[in-house]
Amino acid sequence: MSPTTNPNQELSKPSYNASGRSFSGWLGGKSQLARTIIEMMPEHKHYCEVFGGAGWVLFKKSPSILETINDVNGDLINLYRVFKYHPDALEKEFETQLLSRDEFERLKAECSKSLTDIQRAARFYYLLRTCFGAKIAEPNYFSHVERQPHLKLGDDLKTVLSKIHQRLQKVNIENRNYDVLIQRMDRPETLFYLDPPYYNCEKYYGKDIFSRDDFLKLRDLLKDIKGKFILSLNDVPEVREIFADFYFTTRQIRWSLNAKSESENNGKEIIITNFEIPD
Ligand SMILES: C[S@@+](CC[C@H](N)C(=O)[O-])C[C@H]1O[C@@H](n2cnc3c(N)ncnc32)[C@H](O)[C@@H]1O
Repeated sequence: MSPTTNPNQELSKPSYNASGRSFSGWLGGKSQLARTIIEMMPEHKHYCEVFGGAGWVLFKKSPSILETINDVNGDLINLYRVFKYHPDALEKEFETQLLSRDEFERLKAECSKSLTDIQRAARFYYLLRTCFGAKIAEPNYFSHVERQPHLKLGDDLKTVLSKIHQRLQKVNIENRNYDVLIQRMDRPETLFYLDPPYYNCEKYYGKDIFSRDDFLKLRDLLKDIKGKFILSLNDVPEVREIFADFYFTTRQIRWSLNAKSESENNGKEIIITNFEIPD
């Protein structure tokens, strides 16, 4: 067992791994911000990612002593579990798979409740990798005219699945509402990374899972935790007002890689913490 993952070790500070990659893009995914967030991390024992999505920060950092990834999306968390425990069975599901709009529509219409966990994971992964902008809550088929498709098949898929499987071996995978998870995992040595839906985009990940009031509830919960947290949101006046009691840092990010000018589709991200970030 490597020294950085020994559960008896007290604390560690992870490093940024430039070659680390998630299994997919995700709406609001933090591939661009991951380095900034990882470099801000204080020493901790347990890294707990509360609004996990495709886990870009987790996949781009070296392992902490203990790690948890959580999301309220049951299809997504089932996919994480299948990556961790059944990568070969998942790969088999793709052996005879075709990349086509018809197949996309067939899978989209299928009810995931009637599927096994492995079929459910394969369906979700197919839809996620073939839909426009990783907008999985209301997916539309996206065919690339000039670029390779995102969904890899054959040996390329095997390579992706093997890397994700390895990285998740010691990661605890949870499917809870954020408040339940925070209360359960809070210890002085826990570092929470929180990446909730952006302010004014509360419904982007599905109905009735996050609302405007949840920002207040989250703020009240975070006021009393024993551990440390890093929270990323869009930099709007309402967010600054709600989280005014904490520390702020801002970063400019490019929300769309296709943005033609500096100002188009660029946004300011605010990073909120309950500890001071050294310069
Ligand atoms: C901005 S995305 C996270 C993106 C992630 N950081 C990444 O890099 O891929 C927000 C995530 O919060 C999840 N979510 C929304 N409401 C939630 C809730 N009440 N409890 C837990 N997770 C929730 C969504 O399913 C979505 O995956």
